[in-house]
Amino acid sequence: MKEVLMGTENALRIETLEKSFFPGQGVGTAGKQLMVLSKISMSINEGEFVGLLGPSGCGKSTLLNIVAGFIQADKGLVLFQGLPVTRPSPERSVLFQDSVLFPWLTVKENIIYGLKNRKEKREIIEEKYLRTIQLVELNGFDHFYPKQLSGGMQQRAALARVLIMESPMLLMDEPFASLDAQTRMLMQQLLLDIEKEIRPTILMVTHDIEEALILSDRILIMGKLPGQIIHEVKVPFSRPRDLSMIGKSEFGKIKDELRRVLFDCKSSVCK
Ligand SMILES: Nc1ncnc2c1ncn2[C@@H]1O[C@H](COP(=O)(O)OP(=O)(O)O)[C@@H](O)[C@H]1O
Ligand SMILES: [Mg+2]
Repeated sequence: MKEVLMGTENALRIETLEKSFFPGQGVGTAGKQLMVLSKISMSINEGEFVGLLGPSGCGKSTLLNIVAGFIQADKGLVLFQGLPVTRPSPERSVLFQDSVLFPWLTVKENIIYGLKNRKEKREIIEEKYLRTIQLVELNGFDHFYPKQLSGGMQQRAALARVLIMESPMLLMDEPFASLDAQTRMLMQQLLLDIEKEIRPTILMVTHDIEEALILSDRILIMGKLPGQIIHEVKVPFSRPRDLSMIGKSEFGKIKDELRRVLFDCKSSVCK
């Protein structure tokens, strides 16, 4: 097992970030401004796993897309490893809910696609592939096509395609949301196991309180629009972790606290 200590350096630093959209420009409510993110400030340490919770439509994906470099903030600062984020980069890999594999490529061809594109040496690609396919427990499925895999296996292949790039930061937007409850649990355990080997800095959006608690070192909660960070919880469970933590009384206590914050937010305070 690789011993990894969580750094104290900020991998990601966001200061007073703001973002508005102008939906329906030119029709109906022509160009009415919708402020989505307001004065967001946060940081993530190197190797830290931060979960981002919040009601639907509060701007979680928008924030993640800004960190990924897919869209630009209107105001504020987004620094990754000390440098401003201006565009997407292999330094910050993204895994979506429905990450689509290329249907005409096999599992192996899909997973090594990025490394081949980067013109890595054949032996290096082979070595990294073998390590990654083991991490996601898809050994033996190298020559299967995506449509021959279950939803959970497809998402594991998509995760492998991201992990093989060895990006220092991983951004995940509800990555297990479309999976059934049991497969989702297996994916959470798999992610905990993977973290025993590698510890990228992770920002994960989820709407599932339990999932955030199982996986994160720290949880941030966003309120209703315009999204702001209204609550923060440090998760006190040490690593390595497994799903047995769900039965601990401390787990139940924090889950209740988070549920209360989310409920209050939906019902009144954060309108
Ligand atoms: N490209 C866009 N143009 C206009 N409005 C958008 C765009 N993307 C998101 N929004 C709006 O921003 C708000 C936040 O969306 P989003 O970040 O997807 O929320 P969440 O991920 O928390 O559910 C929503 O009201 C959504 O309609
Ligand atoms: Mg979203």
